[in-house]
Amino acid sequence: MLPSLSALSLQYDAGGLRILDQRWLPDREDWVTVQHPTHMVELIQGLAVRGAPLIGVSAALSLAHFAQSHRNPELLQASALQLRNARPTAVNLMWAMDRMVQEVPDFAPEGLLRVATQIFEEDVAMCARIASHGAELLQDGDGVLTLCNTGGLATAGVGTALGMIREAFEQKKALHVYACETRPLLQGGRLTAWELQKLGIPHTLLCDSMAAALLRLGKVKLCVVGADRIAANGDFANKIGSYALAVLARYHGVPFYVAAPMSTVDLSCADGSQIPIEMRPASEVHGFHGAQGSVRWAPLDTPVFNPAFDVVPRELITGWILDTGVRYQF
Ligand code: MRU
Repeated sequence: MLPSLSALSLQYDAGGLRILDQRWLPDREDWVTVQHPTHMVELIQGLAVRGAPLIGVSAALSLAHFAQSHRNPELLQASALQLRNARPTAVNLMWAMDRMVQEVPDFAPEGLLRVATQIFEEDVAMCARIASHGAELLQDGDGVLTLCNTGGLATAGVGTALGMIREAFEQKKALHVYACETRPLLQGGRLTAWELQKLGIPHTLLCDSMAAALLRLGKVKLCVVGADRIAANGDFANKIGSYALAVLARYHGVPFYVAAPMSTVDLSCADGSQIPIEMRPASEVHGFHGAQGSVRWAPLDTPVFNPAFDVVPRELITGWILDTGVRYQF
């Protein structure tokens, strides 16, 4: 019997795998049925499905579901590789696909579904543990600054950085979240603000360039972001703007934490310089395309620098909030 799995932006049951297309949030909640692994790759690359843990979980489930009707090990192996390569920075994607292939080398459909289900359930459990460890760092009355989207939309569970904020809020701590809008694709403005509204957590949205002014006002007690890959020495890659926030936090004497599951740790990368950084199209910086339509503000041929992620060096990090506990050294 097929399992029934449900998360904020993913559903899986006998009817197939459906994902909430995050490109149109907060204005439209469109659910898309994933047709086959190549379709999943397109959805991941287009950021309809995004967030390091969620892309790993989604890729695993799409392969497992495809296997139920395509019992062809060569085809499944090729699909696993295609999914693994869909985006280069978030190691959770590679971790999930490698695990599928290593644990089910014959690509048996039942085995693939069992492992994909485990990956989903483990992510839910890891998020819960991160939330519980991280919530202890937050005090009643704290202002918390974050970037990008690290909540239920980015994982199978409550999220990582946003998950610990949610947990502390549910423990009745009065918090105020400051969410950076996260240029160029506005995951903070579109997705984190949407999640915070739904959860009823008090929050304020700011442009990324306003973080320094906010920090100088002394309103922020702690900064916390997620990660796409943590290297063996503790350096980590996360959404572009994370490095800038870490530098600002250090200057203003505010603790800067990263929250992530162990599936984000890549011991094969000695340090952050070895993490591949995804470069994205110029169109994302020339303008924006969303549920309300398209706008372009830059001349079409203007050259663009558009790394999707940057690397935060370990010396700027106060602590690593992992599902295994909070570490102050790496
Ligand atoms: O390009 P995105 O939206 O997939 O980038 C997401 C991030 O950088 C998140 O902070 C990270 O994946 C952690 S999500 C729990």
